[in-house]
Amino acid sequence: MKYITIALAKGRLAKQTLALLEQSGITCEEMKDKDTRKLIFVNEELKLKFFLSKTSDVPTYVEYGAADIGVVGSDTILEEGRKVLEVLDLELGKCRMCVAGPASARECLEKNEIIRVASKYPNIAKNYFYNQKHQTVEIIKLNGSVELAPIVGLSEVIVDIVETGSTLKENGLEVLEEICPLSARVIVNEASMKLQRERITQIVKDLQSSKKTEA
Ligand code: PRP
Repeated sequence: MKYITIALAKGRLAKQTLALLEQSGITCEEMKDKDTRKLIFVNEELKLKFFLSKTSDVPTYVEYGAADIGVVGSDTILEEGRKVLEVLDLELGKCRMCVAGPASARECLEKNEIIRVASKYPNIAKNYFYNQKHQTVEIIKLNGSVELAPIVGLSEVIVDIVETGSTLKENGLEVLEEICPLSARVIVNEASMKLQRERITQIVKDLQSSKKTEA
């Protein structure tokens, strides 16, 4: 039997996904060792392999078939634009992709002014402003702490993830427009879905029923 390889985004989401898998009897003891420097973990009995990767790389591994299945946030799926099948919404890590800034930036948005938009998600920002709003903007790619940009005068607004809203609030910023809701999704490689349909569908079904038990 061939191995099915599952790519997980490093961090809290990987832990939550492993907990869901464990509920359906899919475990990986090797992964529980906190001190391990190993990158790939195997469950020989179930012929499964797991690996943890940087979040933004999960769709890449899945598109190329290096992983058959991936679990990652829909923000990353939208930003990376990889050719993968999205098969299940795990409804974990729910948050929103928003345009945010100081209240004073509301007017620039309403008047369709040419403004600067800072974001870790330049493709999502571009798609929103160019294709949905038909507003010409300058997009500036940042790698983190994006809330700084309007405070120090780098941009008028940001496109970023808002979960509780406390980062915005503590920095005198607010949600100006909502782009879309976000949550963790299960993605599958297109060829794997054809060649290993039965086993992959079973893993997805197991995740779905564990998700329902959790709810
Ligand atoms: C994310 C996001 C916001 C914050 C939102 O940042 O980019 O900054 O969380 O959460 P809140 O609405 O609950 O305050 P993250 O912690 O991932 O780090 P980053 O700033 O380096 O992107």
